[in-house]
Amino acid sequence: MRQLIAGNWKMNGTGASLAELDAIREAKPADADILICPPATLIARAAAKGAVPIGGQDCRAQVSGAFTGDVSAEMLKDAGAVAVIVGHSERRQHHGESDAVVAAKARAAWRAGLLAIICIGETEAERLGGHALDVVTRQIAGSVPDGASPENTTLAYEPVWAIGTGRTPTNAEIVEMHGHIRARLAARFADAAGMRILYGGSVKPANAREILALADVDGALVGGASLKARDFLAIAAASS
Ligand code: PGA
Repeated sequence: MRQLIAGNWKMNGTGASLAELDAIREAKPADADILICPPATLIARAAAKGAVPIGGQDCRAQVSGAFTGDVSAEMLKDAGAVAVIVGHSERRQHHGESDAVVAAKARAAWRAGLLAIICIGETEAERLGGHALDVVTRQIAGSVPDGASPENTTLAYEPVWAIGTGRTPTNAEIVEMHGHIRARLAARFADAAGMRILYGGSVKPANAREILALADVDGALVGGASLKARDFLAIAAASS
């Protein structure tokens, strides 16, 4: 399957950053899909450029209402987004999002016609305790709603301890986890073989080729290295 290289700008970027999208358009690879998820304030302008597909970083489950500061999946769609990240560990950590909340957000994404990129991954303590596979099993059961398909859902395995740290799991650990995720999905969904499973956490130009060549790695979710078009393009060019 075609790999997806998705960039998560997190809380970074103002109007001046939109020039990066032009640079990405100029040199984007033909054989991989790409997506950029800028902050909510930039989504409409980013999408209007038509340079690259644009996604949100979060949505609220409800369509509308008295939820000050929140953004619905329908609003993201209206602004031109085609996808939304849900359940990123920074949301789970700083906003107390449970698996049930993440599942509701994924359903909201589907309702609005967006691809849901559902993030899962263990903390360092959980890995050191030998619980990484169990934690991810539980997160898949709780965060991935019934009805997930390759068209509406992409998984992103992001070990919390690898995000923004420059540390990554070993290749063997990534292969083990992605194979485990694939098996858990296959136990519930007929078309799990076609569902993308991205790896995220300190993906850089220097390690992208190695990681993207691993079994059951169908792309990458890139944080820090997605902020500059040159780095993002180098990662996208390493897709297999
Ligand atoms: P990082 O972030 O690439 O900066 O480690 C990845 C992510 O949080 O999606």
